[in-house]
Amino acid sequence: MKDLTCEGREGLCRVEIRRARREDIPRVVQINRVALPENYPEFFFYDHLENWPEIFLVAEVEDNVVGYIMCRIETGIGFFHLLPVKKGHVVSIAVLKEYRRRGIGSRLMVESMDAMKRVYNAKEVYLEVRVSNEPAISLYRKLGFQTIRRIPGYYSDGEDAYLMARLL
Ligand code: ACO
Ligand code: ZN
Repeated sequence: MKDLTCEGREGLCRVEIRRARREDIPRVVQINRVALPENYPEFFFYDHLENWPEIFLVAEVEDNVVGYIMCRIETGIGFFHLLPVKKGHVVSIAVLKEYRRRGIGSRLMVESMDAMKRVYNAKEVYLEVRVSNEPAISLYRKLGFQTIRRIPGYYSDGEDAYLMARLL
């Protein structure tokens, strides 16, 4: 995958977007825990990596993983198709706070959507996001996602989710 150059505190830094490896999982779990209230046991991450290795990506800066995206492929009636289709499901994405607003989240999304389509023949991509999560909602809108519906009480603390999707 093509590297991304980003503007950081110490000037330009190189960000490498690559497939996650098993040895990245402890770090990915750590980023997930600091960045999001939705946490999962380690086996859940290993399971996604094993089943959908091309759509579990990490962003690395100077040998440190600073962000990840973990996705899966599902088959079902599409949001834009009436027949069963393969859909990419973005299960979790996060970038460490110090590395946000540099295009890393967008690159993780774009690269994984590309692989969903190219490798897994997915026709659509979808995700759920907290209705209060403005940064993430703006990122998804910018990438062409539409809000399909609001899911009441989706999260364990009672917050609603937006289900957002787009064609691939
Ligand atoms: N406020 C408003 N718009 C924002 C913000 C923000 N804080 N952050 C990103 N955006 C929008 C902007 O349009 C931005 O483009 P711009 O910087 O040119 O204006 C665009 O999104 C792209 O931003 P990136 O720099 O590519 O995104 P970033 O690397 O900052 O990652 C992410 C975005 C992953 C949502 C990050 O904020 C994060 O890790 N948040 C905490 C974890 C989280 O909420 N994850 C999503 C949960 S939902 C799910 O996982 C399916
Ligand atoms: Zn989901």
